[in-house]
Amino acid sequence: MAESSSGRIDTVMHEARLFPPTAEFASKARIKSLEEYQQIWDRAAQDPEAFWDEAARSELHWFEPYTEVLRWQEPFAEWFVGGKTNASYNCLDAHLTTERADKIALIFEGEPGDQRTYTYRQLHAEVCKFANVLTAQGITTGDVVSIYMPMVPELVIAMLACARIGAVHSVIFGGFSAEAIADRNHDASAKLQITADGGWRRGKQLALKQTVDQALEKSPTVTKCIVLKRVGNEVSMQAGRDFWWHELMEAASADCPATPLDSENSLFILYTSGSTGKPKGIRHTTAGYNLYAKKTFEWVFDHRDDDIYWCTADCGWITGHSYVVYGPLSAGATVLIYEGAPNHPAEDRFWDLIERHKVTILYTAPTAIRAFIKWGDDHVKKHDLSTLRLLGTVGEGINPEAWMWYHRMIGAERCPIVDTWWQTETGGIMMSPLPGAIPTKPGSCTKPLPGIIPDIVDHSGNSVDANQGGWLVITHPWPGMLRGIWGDDKRYQEQYWSKVPGKYLAGDNARRDDDGYYWIMGRIDDVLNVSGHRLSTIEIESALVSHPAVAEAAAVGRPDDLKGEAIAVFVTLKGVEPTDALRNDLKQHVRKEIGALAQPDDIRFTNALPKTRSGKIMRRLLRDIAAGRQTVGDTTTLEDYSVLASLQHEE
Ligand code: WT7
Repeated sequence: MAESSSGRIDTVMHEARLFPPTAEFASKARIKSLEEYQQIWDRAAQDPEAFWDEAARSELHWFEPYTEVLRWQEPFAEWFVGGKTNASYNCLDAHLTTERADKIALIFEGEPGDQRTYTYRQLHAEVCKFANVLTAQGITTGDVVSIYMPMVPELVIAMLACARIGAVHSVIFGGFSAEAIADRNHDASAKLQITADGGWRRGKQLALKQTVDQALEKSPTVTKCIVLKRVGNEVSMQAGRDFWWHELMEAASADCPATPLDSENSLFILYTSGSTGKPKGIRHTTAGYNLYAKKTFEWVFDHRDDDIYWCTADCGWITGHSYVVYGPLSAGATVLIYEGAPNHPAEDRFWDLIERHKVTILYTAPTAIRAFIKWGDDHVKKHDLSTLRLLGTVGEGINPEAWMWYHRMIGAERCPIVDTWWQTETGGIMMSPLPGAIPTKPGSCTKPLPGIIPDIVDHSGNSVDANQGGWLVITHPWPGMLRGIWGDDKRYQEQYWSKVPGKYLAGDNARRDDDGYYWIMGRIDDVLNVSGHRLSTIEIESALVSHPAVAEAAAVGRPDDLKGEAIAVFVTLKGVEPTDALRNDLKQHVRKEIGALAQPDDIRFTNALPKTRSGKIMRRLLRDIAAGRQTVGDTTTLEDYSVLASLQHEE
């Protein structure tokens, strides 16, 4: 048993199921066996710079070659120093001289059912035109452009147009408030805003322009606003500041050569919430990020030219940046994007989309998978999902029973599941099964990708043994890593590089099992300390989710005089009645599954859990509620305030 002071965490989870890739899948995969993966990983680990050097030469277009692969002055990295490239070029122009020129790049479906497609050639033309629009509005290399749009092709076009001229995009998810937009615009000193008259969500129009109008009152650095007509509703246009997208585009030329940009030119800022305080503007740059997004896309999704690939994330999140735009488009993929909600007009919308567009790869989040389970199998069974060949998840740990449902119900036991661990900060996937090579275990993100060298350490920075939980660190710089927090080097240094000298601290706990598989155990701040044992949230939650009545669960600690912390869990049910008998049954179930130590002290039934707008459970808020405290800290990322209010008023 570990001593709690060292920072080690006890594991109580026992998951022994193993799913090797089918022979059929492996035989066609880029990387076909565990041995082959291990060889590539070993070679990369021996000399990461040589490995990335070779990849950068073959994967990216260089207007001018770089002179140095990595310049590392901890914690500041520069990759491919002195080189000049352009991410928009790599995503578009690079394909125009190949047979992919007239391949479909984007398939768009709006929530009302409207559809559009763009070939690489067509997308290139639109991006060139919009890049000229931006230039005509006075935007140039290094200027920050703020984007607040629905998930429509013009969002992708706007991002790539910024990249084309070296402007830095800051995409703000279309669910954020005027306040949140203004804060981010201010922090980044944004010069221009791009938005739309609205977007569709569950049959309703989101009043995006109205929100932007409020935000711009408090965004003095923003002097221009370009408005896309999407829903056709009446919006107010301020003369001299606001311009219609379609009017500007009409006059724009489609001739706009990509600007050769320095490898380290900022490509984008993406704000991510800190656990407290103001959001951090994570800064990513051009060459390293682009390379990493492309390579990881090809490895993890084992991309083939006939794939129809659907990542359900919005471009307001890093997943949308790396695996809707920069990764897949650099790789020449056909990408489906969908504007709306998964339950509009009915709970089978995703399966309907997959059937009609013949999707082969689906990449979504555990929160969505848990919702599908709750909505019931009938919605799935109505549709032909036989085109699917690969499934992925990202954003949170996936409970093994949710994994099994995904595997059986969506994957028909045929599709490998790639559980991808990464962060806004890492730029791309860090750990994931390579689907033709690495046998999967439900709930494990398995192994690090080539060029990524993780470790698990205690509070003194020493590696811990197998099956000991501890802090997850990355021991060597990688091309996709964040270059800093916008305007705040000190916070960057403190947050990621101070607790464990010389290593990137991810902020998650994890353990490695006897086979070298990694199991993410949740955020460092979320660990429970029960009678001197440090327990991870996901293990308790997964035990609860394995009970047939439970849809979702969140475990937190609450102060307890005797045990230090008692375990409080919040549970949503699959349409069964919450009773005291069920409460007792759940306690017994956890006891049986993972032991008496992890048995919850309090079980609270609720209709919904508080989540971030990207679908992560906000355990920090639940901790306050469990302790009977007022909730403190930042709640601006909360998706639905009424959930918090109803939790506070229960009891
Ligand atoms: C945090 C990063 C990565 C894009 C979306 C989220 C958690 C993410 C997994 C996974 C367990 C995961 C971690 C991580 N997380 N993927 N496969 N298994 N946990 O990006 O908002 O920056 O969040 O999400 O806690 O640190 P993000």
